[in-house]
Amino acid sequence: MTKWNWPAIGALWLFVGLVPAMAAAEEETAAEAPAYSKSGADTCLNCHGDNPVVMGIFRTRHAQPGDPRTPFGHGQLQCEACHGPGGAHTKRPKKGEERTPVVQFGRGKASTIGEQNQMCLGCHNSNLGNWHVSAHDDNEVGCADCHDSHDPRDPVRQKATQAEVCKTCHQLKVADSLLPFAHPLHEGQMACTSCHSPHGSPADASLKRDTVNETCYTCHADKRGPFLWEHQPVTEDCTLCHKPHGSAQAGMLKQRPPFLCQQCHGAQGHPSVPGLPAGLPGGGAPSAYLLASGCANCHSQVHGSNHPSGARLTR
Ligand code: HEC
Ligand code: HEC
Ligand code: HEC
Ligand code: HEC
Ligand code: HEC
Ligand code: HEC
Ligand code: HEC
Ligand code: HEC
Ligand code: HEC
Ligand code: HEC
Repeated sequence: MTKWNWPAIGALWLFVGLVPAMAAAEEETAAEAPAYSKSGADTCLNCHGDNPVVMGIFRTRHAQPGDPRTPFGHGQLQCEACHGPGGAHTKRPKKGEERTPVVQFGRGKASTIGEQNQMCLGCHNSNLGNWHVSAHDDNEVGCADCHDSHDPRDPVRQKATQAEVCKTCHQLKVADSLLPFAHPLHEGQMACTSCHSPHGSPADASLKRDTVNETCYTCHADKRGPFLWEHQPVTEDCTLCHKPHGSAQAGMLKQRPPFLCQQCHGAQGHPSVPGLPAGLPGGGAPSAYLLASGCANCHSQVHGSNHPSGARLTR
């Protein structure tokens, strides 16, 4: 029996069928498509050339005539690569009518976030990682909410200024970073993106690594161990004790010891809660262990110990 290659035949038929359809579609769009301006950027600059914000674009990575992939590369559409066809926009509006708009970027503009992002994604789809499954895409955050394409510095990509951009939407997180004990974000040493992928990631909270701890270990490698004596919560999740965005407590702790420790450690082994009042059975002076209230004064190896007799994390 002859064995037909059905998928191939199907594809062939589809192709034969599509050719005329494609040609028809092309004619249609050619008739209806909005026109591009006559001389590209030169046309636009006739009216926008005195705006220093606009002119900043020529000092960015996008304005590389030598790189054919950029908007200003040979054969590209220049301003209109991002702002879309501007032929009608360049024409003087008829009396009582508004100028035909081009694609505008930012919040509260006539163009939807979807329309805006589409202009960028035409070129950047493949190198943006997890964008299409990110919380930012899901929540209609625009490329231009973070990126300032006309500014060669693009503040969101500078460590020292990034948090200011995130602050427009994440006020509380940025406020935390100004607490007395926090990561050095505002000193320009690190940024939100030291821990987060702004375009999304497969991890919770768009972290850069698979887990919280893996993310922390990229800089705090000494906390990874392996330790002869591990402290279970440390291997589980650093945020059981620390607030990564900043805290009013020394060491960026969630709470001060002993309270921090007493969330999990009751009066096991030695009492770590205040003793009963004198006069009651078992009552008397408060525990000496508690008096020294920083549990970590004695249990100094709270992240784990490699000392042969460090089982109690005291050395
Ligand atoms: C004949 C003058 C003229 C030309 C040529 C012109 N524009 Fe405009 N453009 C304007 C005016 C005036 C406005 C603001 C008022 C309005 O929208 O009617 C504007 C607004 C804009 C805006 C919106 C700014 C905002 O607030 O977000 C963008 C973007 C823009 N132009 C881009 C372009 C691009 C790209 C070109 C070239 C294809 C171009 N313009 C050509 C006159 C012009
Ligand atoms: C015509 C294609 C094209 C369009 C449209 C485009 N880009 Fe780009 N973009 C590029 C190329 C090419 C690079 C350089 C990539 C490289 O170096 O590998 C680049 C680089 C960048 C960079 C890194 C800049 C740097 O200095 O390294 C950012 C950020 C960026 N684009 C954002 C955007 C945003 C936001 C938009 C939409 C408003 C956009 N791009 C539209 C082609 C484009
Ligand atoms: C939440 C803010 C945010 C949004 C939204 C955002 N970006 Fe970015 N983007 C950044 C930051 C921050 C960097 C610098 C990354 C770094 O330093 O690790 C960056 C870097 C880039 C780069 C340089 C190459 C790279 O991956 O490092 C490109 C290209 C880019 N973004 C394009 C886009 C496009 C296109 C969109 C919209 C689809 C977009 N971005 C949306 C914050 C954002
Ligand atoms: C890489 C994409 C890209 C290219 C290329 C580009 N723009 Fe823009 N344009 C933007 C984005 C994004 C904004 C929103 C402001 C911002 O984030 O920088 C913007 C804002 C503007 C504005 C409003 C500025 C203001 O003062 O609020 C005008 C006008 C404008 N562009 C005109 C132009 C002209 C003219 C060109 C060509 C010389 C051009 N753009 C090239 C992406 C681009
Ligand atoms: C225009 C508003 C906007 C800006 C600007 C913005 N974000 Fe977001 N971000 C959101 C929204 C909306 C969500 C989803 C709801 C939420 O978790 O608050 C989100 C979620 C997140 C999440 C949680 C992601 C997840 O997978 O659960 C992180 C992390 C984040 N943003 C980091 C940043 C960083 C870092 C910046 C600056 C580089 C930034 N965002 C800038 C609006 C914004
Ligand atoms: C030292 C690493 C680190 C830095 C720096 C960092 N984050 Fe986070 N972020 C985390 C971790 C870990 C989580 C998840 C656990 C949690 O919420 O405590 C998280 C969660 C988030 C969430 C989502 C969870 C929620 O509470 O809604 C947002 C939004 C966020 N971060 C924004 C930011 C912003 C904005 C910055 C910069 C100002 C920033 N982060 C800096 C580690 C960091
Ligand atoms: C990009 C590198 C980097 C990453 C990732 C990072 N940190 Fe840090 N961490 C630092 C730096 C830098 C300091 C400040 C050190 C100093 O001041 O000596 C610091 C300090 C700390 C401190 C001490 C604060 C104090 O007041 O003494 C704690 C606690 C901490 N980080 C916890 C974490 C946790 C938890 C994570 C993961 C959610 C994490 N870090 C991820 C770089 C990082
Ligand atoms: C059981 C609670 C607990 C857990 C879980 C925990 N820590 Fe700590 N951490 C502490 C205490 C207590 C201090 C001491 C604070 C002080 O100096 O006052 C501290 C201090 C630190 C410091 C600053 C001093 C030093 O030792 O370098 C860093 C950095 C740090 N922790 C990182 C981490 C990282 C990374 C993780 C996750 C792998 C983690 N911690 C998990 C309780 C914890
Ligand atoms: C999130 C819960 C949690 C917190 C907070 C916590 N621990 Fe632990 N700790 C544990 C668990 C779980 C074990 C393992 C218990 C076991 O093996 O029986 C442990 C073990 C210990 C041990 C060794 C005990 C033994 O029996 O070998 C010491 C000592 C200890 N913790 C001290 C501390 C100190 C000091 C703090 C505060 C800085 C603290 N812990 C905070 C959960 C916690
Ligand atoms: C004065 C020093 C000191 C202080 C302060 C101290 N501990 Fe201890 N702790 C020890 C010593 C020593 C042991 C070992 C006792 C033993 O092996 O019988 C121990 C044992 C433990 C154990 C293991 C219990 C067991 O089953 O043997 C835990 C859990 C513990 N401490 C938690 C804490 C907490 C929580 C605090 C703060 C409220 C604290 N310790 C304060 C010295 C101290």
